[in-house]
Amino acid sequence: MQFCVLITLLTCFAFSRGASVAQEGIEKQDERVRYDNYAVYKINYDNSIQRQLLLQLVKRHESFSLWHDSPTEIHLMVSPLALSEFERNLIRANATAEIFLANVQNLIDNETEANAKATSSFGWTRYHNLAEIEAWLDDILATYPDVTEGFVVGKSYEGRNIRGIKISYKADNPGVFIESNIHAREWITSATATWFINELLSSTDDLIRDLAENHDWYIVPVLNVDGFVYTHEKDRLWRKTRQPSSISSCVGVDPNRNYDVHWMENGGASDDPCALDYAGPHPFSEPEIKAMSEYLGSIKDKVNVFLAFHSYAQLLLSPYGHTAEKFPDNFDDMMKVAKAYADAVGAMPYGTIYNYSSAADILYPASGATNDWAYQEGIRISYTVEFRDRGRFAFVLPPAFIIPNAEEVLIGIIALIDECKKLGYLNLK
Ligand SMILES: *[C@@H]1O[C@H](CO)[C@@H](O)[C@H](O)[C@H]1NC(C)=O
Ligand SMILES: *[C@@H]1O[C@H](CO)[C@@H](O)[C@H](O)[C@H]1NC(C)=O
Ligand SMILES: *[C@@H]1O[C@H](CO)[C@@H](O)[C@H](O)[C@H]1NC(C)=O
Ligand SMILES: [Zn+2]
Repeated sequence: MQFCVLITLLTCFAFSRGASVAQEGIEKQDERVRYDNYAVYKINYDNSIQRQLLLQLVKRHESFSLWHDSPTEIHLMVSPLALSEFERNLIRANATAEIFLANVQNLIDNETEANAKATSSFGWTRYHNLAEIEAWLDDILATYPDVTEGFVVGKSYEGRNIRGIKISYKADNPGVFIESNIHAREWITSATATWFINELLSSTDDLIRDLAENHDWYIVPVLNVDGFVYTHEKDRLWRKTRQPSSISSCVGVDPNRNYDVHWMENGGASDDPCALDYAGPHPFSEPEIKAMSEYLGSIKDKVNVFLAFHSYAQLLLSPYGHTAEKFPDNFDDMMKVAKAYADAVGAMPYGTIYNYSSAADILYPASGATNDWAYQEGIRISYTVEFRDRGRFAFVLPPAFIIPNAEEVLIGIIALIDECKKLGYLNLK
């Protein structure tokens, strides 16, 4: 793939133009949204004026899509039709850009090809769709009936069941809840969650047996079921739910901005129904999120630790996301626990680096997320975990990385739980 390091603005644009072929723009083919010659840029900037100039572009939803936003860099997907506008704004902002992906469709095509090499059994060498994940879950429940139990969180807008699995080897264990794939396009999260379930049930490693048997696990591999099906059938890069809006033709809400916890405070979400981080018309407007709050609320006294699986950026984000002005009283403990995860992962041969703090502190304010809501409800250790990578493949992480990512998440969680225990967070409530 093409990769220009540190643009040299003009040469790089000449390069990506030269590389562009055939169709441009989003087109429907087999009714799938295509991203031919859509490119993803990493843009470094120094100050808030530059940032504002660049973020103005994102209001043009059809041409620009914000993939990552931090105080030193943003990642932007740019339509081939908007390249000159992008170039003008870069110059105006005096920012430098580096191309991560020259053609997003190329990466999606590679993934589709890998997924088409379907094997008869479930595995972690390709990404599975919802029907395959649910069939696998049924097999798991049938294979381990004594220690597993299926549960249903509730129904999605389109009427699908949102399913989960509880793994419990004995009474009086502390509980860990894992939510995954609330953002539809973050496929690495459900691939990792299913691998993790399989390890808990089948590994013979002592550390993993201890993890599995001395904690109760509540795992929801795909929370945003409608959005996930939509990513498989229509648009690989869909993020939100699929409920239509009464005030706009744009569909869906960012479910991870929809919880009734500091909802829409401090610029932590958007009120624009077309925005990727649209908070919804009111808290819990999304049936999936209302159901999740009721389910998690009903068992919160049994849950000591909450983890929400996301990608990408390699971060652990603790409450609260909407402000860096005031940290929760056990923030220091949450940083110790996050450090344990990051140190364990960093010590593995892959050498993957995770950073940690609250979203508002390390990124930008984000309000209404599940982990904030779980914390507000009394689950004292609660993180959003952003998996690999840091933008090289972003949301379309090739399937060869599923197992390496899952292995390091497992090692990270072992260390995280161990630190929670040392700090007294695993006592029964
Ligand atoms: C643009 O950035 C460069 C390097 O950071 C700096 O030297 C230069 O003064 C900036 N120019 C403007 C117009 O901001
Ligand atoms: C897609 O796969 C081809 C063949 O393996 C490879 O050359 C190309 O770099 C891949 N594209 C991306 C964007 O990774
Ligand atoms: C992660 O933390 C390290 C060490 O504190 C720091 O040097 C680096 O810039 C951080 N990276 C990100 C992406 O925040
Ligand atoms: Zn996410």
